[in-house]
Amino acid sequence: MEENEKKVFETVSYIRERIIEKPDIAIILGSGLGGLAYEIQNRVEIPYDEVPNFKNSLVEGHEGKLIIGKIYDKNVIAMQGRIHFYEGYSMQDIAFPIRVFALLGVEVLIVTNAAGGIDPRLSPGSLMMITDHINMSLQSPLTGKNSDTFGPRFPAINGVYDKGLMTIAKSVASEMNINLHEGVYAFMPGPQYETDAEIKMLKILGADAVGMSTVPEVIAAAHSGIKVLGISCIANAAWREGAMATHNEVLENASKVEKDFVTLVMDTIRKIPIENKG
Ligand code: HPA
Repeated sequence: MEENEKKVFETVSYIRERIIEKPDIAIILGSGLGGLAYEIQNRVEIPYDEVPNFKNSLVEGHEGKLIIGKIYDKNVIAMQGRIHFYEGYSMQDIAFPIRVFALLGVEVLIVTNAAGGIDPRLSPGSLMMITDHINMSLQSPLTGKNSDTFGPRFPAINGVYDKGLMTIAKSVASEMNINLHEGVYAFMPGPQYETDAEIKMLKILGADAVGMSTVPEVIAAAHSGIKVLGISCIANAAWREGAMATHNEVLENASKVEKDFVTLVMDTIRKIPIENKG
């Protein structure tokens, strides 16, 4: 067995020993959005430092804990904090938890982030459902020998942002009077925010928002047949020329929208049908 695959199996058995039921839905909580974790009932918390082979982020606003429990009737496993490409981690490192989730039997990944708005309609403090992405790093967590345990050599990843999940999220947003935009997320490697010219370029390419996370995890999820729902909290107006984004501004605006975000994600989880295979 390949080294990385062995590590995934080791982590899976460590987690299985600490939980009773198979998790159905995995959630990755982005910058300033960790509060959803406190809504998880009957929860078991495991700091990443205690999970074999899990790596920890050193970025402020990212806590570094796995939280396993229930939201309504669904078994969930949430990552409060994630590692990033700009911290020097490889795409494979970033994808590692997704491989673990796949083998644990997770069927749906809800991935969240704080992002800069490129479309001027996306003002700071608004929510955008990710309908598709553009991978500006041109790197992939699937580079290297394919691990057939997780998925095929040449996976089609079109449609990974699942239409059924998007329909559910949209209906929850309209019931709850939450303004949920839709758009394309561009992944930039960072850690520097973009220049004005880069933002113009991303707009021409068809991006509505830009951020430094999410895409590596989504590619790994697609590889393993996990359906994805992506939600960006728009934290700064990247479209405004000369605007200088700061990490504090990003965290503040993400936390302003947190109440709507928590309602949206929790009610969507309530309505997601689970097949319970495996
Ligand atoms: N650019 C890139 N990543 C980000 C931004 C941004 O403007 N805001 C939050 N994450």
